[in-house]
Amino acid sequence: MGTIHIHGGIPLQGAIKIQGSKNAALPIMAATLLVSGKCLLKGCPRIADVFYMQKLLESLGCVTRWEGDAIAIEPVNICMGEMPADAVKGMRSSLTLLGALLGRCGKAALEYPGGCVIGKRPIDMHIKALKQMNVCFGENDSMLYAWSKKLQGGRITLECASVGATENIILAGVLAKGKTEIQGAAKEPEVVALCDFLKACGAQIEGAGTEQICIEGVEKLYGAEYEIPKDRIAAGTYVLACMAAGGEILLKNAPVKEMDALLDITEQMGAFIQKSRQEIYMQAPKRPKAVSKVQTAVYPGFPTDLQSPLLSVLAVADGSSEVKENIFENRFRIVPDLVNMGAKVQQVDARTVHIEGQERLKGAVVTARELRGGAALVIAGLSAQGETGIKDTIYIDRGYVNICRDLRELGARIYSV
Ligand code: EPZ
Repeated sequence: MGTIHIHGGIPLQGAIKIQGSKNAALPIMAATLLVSGKCLLKGCPRIADVFYMQKLLESLGCVTRWEGDAIAIEPVNICMGEMPADAVKGMRSSLTLLGALLGRCGKAALEYPGGCVIGKRPIDMHIKALKQMNVCFGENDSMLYAWSKKLQGGRITLECASVGATENIILAGVLAKGKTEIQGAAKEPEVVALCDFLKACGAQIEGAGTEQICIEGVEKLYGAEYEIPKDRIAAGTYVLACMAAGGEILLKNAPVKEMDALLDITEQMGAFIQKSRQEIYMQAPKRPKAVSKVQTAVYPGFPTDLQSPLLSVLAVADGSSEVKENIFENRFRIVPDLVNMGAKVQQVDARTVHIEGQERLKGAVVTARELRGGAALVIAGLSAQGETGIKDTIYIDRGYVNICRDLRELGARIYSV
């Protein structure tokens, strides 16, 4: 399952390039099922979840091929084979295949995407919305079946701005009959990227990035080339790594305009930040200042995916902080490991932790339990005194192309076995 070893206490120094966005690439890969012809997705991150999605698409009848850092995908003969359970179970974003398969061939069969350690991850909003588009559902054991004689556009209101549900409605709507209107749509940049890709293939979509998205169904979509946008969560991870370890770094080709919430908090903690269109230069303070209260929110609020990495910074900040997690119900799984490293973190309730910043953490052996928690433990190890070993780093490989290589390029003493 992989182990990362870190010798902590070394400030970061240098420049790195930011990878393509995992959460943009995955729904866009699913969307290629809807297209007649070949798509070329440039700047696609070589991460485990992308390889999973590639395997799923091939099991459905797509031909795929890597061309440098681009992946070519062509849906040749989309059969309705069931997808390999190990891949679907391992990855929530296989759920976006639901909308894409319904749009392509009017039916889908997939293993019920399991919940994970950060929450139950229900799909009630996906099902409720697709039923309004003339989709029927059935299930047995752990399989979910969906089918529709003809997808119909509809007026859909989402109770909460679910990224995945918004994406599934868009994927089902682009080839549906008539108009689909989404009220309460997610505004995340990854939804905008999906819409940009589909519009490049000939889809008619208005309002991407706002709470109201309108889709006019078309007859056919055509192959296109598309550059996957850069990963705001990976970029934010390295900003927080520098806050914890100290030093000064330059992030090249970062999605700067999507990172305001994180960069504001980083400046509140005492960093010097200089932004240009695609670069972020930052100087960390000697010791981060605490932040009295931070809460996660849907975009453009503070991203839930950077909440755990932020905990690792606040654990060594000067003063006490409170962090509230408003998106997922169980996203403080790294607290016991941070405490094991000497952090003073107390979980007040399911959604709130209080942190009393310590001068330094001490290296320890800890275990990654999910993707962003694993990245947060790397950040804690960078600032800790002595050696830190992080087990089960396979989770980290799901979302970061090579976190050890990137951090070594910034001067960290880190390697994986
Ligand atoms: C996407 O997950 C991202 N994953 C997550 O990133 C991210 O944390 C999340 O959006 C929020 O920004 C991908 O894009 C592949 P949601 P998604 O539907 O779509 C509840 C990472 O680390 N909900 O916006 O699954 C749900 O339980 C991952 O890269 C329902 O109740 O998130 C959660 O509490 C982690 N019913 C909240 O909504 C539903 O039908 C937000 O979930 C759907 C969601």
